[in-house]
Amino acid sequence: MPASIAVGTQWGDEGKGRVVDVVAKESTMVVRYQGGHNAGHTLVVDGERFALQLIPSGVLYDHVTPVIGNGVVVEPSVLLAEIDTLEHRGVDCSRLVVSSHAHLVMPYHQVLDELNEARLGDAKIGTTMRGIGPAYADRASRLGVRMEHILEPDVFRARVAAALIDKNHLLREVHGHAGFDPEKLADEMLEQLAPRLREYIGDSVGIVHEALDRDERVLFEGAQATFLDVDHGTYPYVTSSNPVAGFASVGAGVGPNVFEQIIGITKAYVTRVGMGPFVCELHDEIGDLLVDRGKEFGTNTGRRRRTGWFDAVMARQSVRLNGLTEIAITKLDVLDTLETIRVCVGYNVEGIEHRYMPDRFSDLEKATPIYAELPGWREELSGVTEVDQLPPRALAYVKFLENEIGVPVRLVCVGPGREQYLRLTAS
Ligand code: GDP
Ligand code: IMO
Ligand code: MG
Repeated sequence: MPASIAVGTQWGDEGKGRVVDVVAKESTMVVRYQGGHNAGHTLVVDGERFALQLIPSGVLYDHVTPVIGNGVVVEPSVLLAEIDTLEHRGVDCSRLVVSSHAHLVMPYHQVLDELNEARLGDAKIGTTMRGIGPAYADRASRLGVRMEHILEPDVFRARVAAALIDKNHLLREVHGHAGFDPEKLADEMLEQLAPRLREYIGDSVGIVHEALDRDERVLFEGAQATFLDVDHGTYPYVTSSNPVAGFASVGAGVGPNVFEQIIGITKAYVTRVGMGPFVCELHDEIGDLLVDRGKEFGTNTGRRRRTGWFDAVMARQSVRLNGLTEIAITKLDVLDTLETIRVCVGYNVEGIEHRYMPDRFSDLEKATPIYAELPGWREELSGVTEVDQLPPRALAYVKFLENEIGVPVRLVCVGPGREQYLRLTAS
């Protein structure tokens, strides 16, 4: 059975959670490979809304084992609260496995994230303030604390103490913060979190490989998205991990030869939260309409998302960066009322047309969109479940995007509900 990756192709919130939920129906395991509780993945099942931050989106199915891979950074109290909320609503989380190698987002990471952002002032990134950047920085500096450490109290105390030497200095001298008492913090976490975490921590690499060896279908779920990637995104306005599909291999511990299907998830338009360039951004009433109809407010931070027209330049670049084999388009229904729909087919940078993202940030900042215009369909799509029920203009829009992206569109979503989608087959 093929291993699949689901990856966001824009700046996040494309509807990854809901697409993963669709694909997970035919999978036995869903593995998150990067990010942390900066993610917010929404699923709507039988009118009930679930907002997941850390637990993979397959958790709602009894036949799926959710796995948090080594590439994820985990805030343990957020994870336990998420488990409690789900179990309270009747979702069994006992199958969850959290990699022993996953790093912890510690309380000092969150404080540092907030203080760094405040210090940057107008140059801030607009992070989710969840401590994600400082946690990944510690991981790279070899000052991180891993899940396996919390299972061994002496090791945990020593790791926390080592991590806090320079951080306390920074907190006190640069930020005027009181800092953290390493022993007190370690003891509190050992007492309050370790006993419950113990049951979930395990050898995620082994478990994933056993499923692959049994020829089961395993789905790897990305958080954030291609243009928030720390290498390939709009740096420095990015997250601190690698959401691109290649990182599924690193963040879950499998070789790149296992992946056969790489699904690029894209909204029928574009949104972004936080700062950074956005070539097709709308600052008019159409932008407001997309916010209203698309309910474009952050799943867990509540921030209003910036909105813009579909950007084929980003999509093409995303095909290259991820090796996409197919596309899932979400939120097509949000465009239902528009008379005319624009699609950015290229960027103009000082008179030169670009079909792919400009290599240099300064060129991206200068880029202006080259638009194609298509007629809107002005019909409600929310009940459409078969391709032949799509109004011809809606199908023409999908086919136009497919042609511009150069990869087949296999799934189109027309509402947030689990059943509100249609599949497209090869034509
Ligand atoms: P993710 O982070 O990529 O999983 O996306 P989010 O959950 O943060 O944001 C996507 C939002 O759009 C959620 O509120 C979903 O319920 C909603 N959504 C997903 N697909 C569709 C769709 O096809 N139509 C509409 N109207 N809403 C959708
Ligand atoms: P999902 O998985 C949208 C953005 C933040 C900020 C930048 C860095 O739901 O798509 P960070 O806290 O990661 O250091 O913030 O990345 N960001 C997201 N935007 N969706 C997300 O996750 C995001 N996770 C981080 O807004 O611009
Ligand atoms: Mg989200």
